[in-house]
Amino acid sequence: MKKIFATIACLCSLSYAVDYNPTEGQMLSLSCASCHGTDGKSVAVTPYIAGMGKNTMYSILLAYKNGEKVGTMMQKHVKGFSDAELEQVSYYFSKIER
Ligand code: HEC
Repeated sequence: MKKIFATIACLCSLSYAVDYNPTEGQMLSLSCASCHGTDGKSVAVTPYIAGMGKNTMYSILLAYKNGEKVGTMMQKHVKGFSDAELEQVSYYFSKIER
């Protein structure tokens, strides 16, 4: 039974990857704010990520997740997200004015 639920959850997360969901994107972005500042407008040493291109950010996040890119924090943080969620959050930041 657990497997069935897991499969359904996977299918759902895949289906919303295609369309941008602003609410979902904003919710997910809250987990980034503690380090990258409100809406990614960092005022600290962490990179300023507001307005970064959606595809650029998505590929960076995937690279962290797959272990192709290693930093101090990011490779740990992104492991808690599905690929679809990383895509949503990338959409969100790409729409913020720099
Ligand atoms: C615990 C602090 C922390 C959190 C939370 C965090 N980041 Fe980061 N992020 C960093 C640091 C520090 C770096 C610089 C690379 C490194 O050392 O890991 C970074 C780097 C990045 C980069 C690469 C920037 C560049 O110019 O190469 C992106 C994109 C990014 N983060 C996006 C996100 C997103 C999206 C989230 C939320 C899902 C997030 N980060 C959450 C600390 C954090």
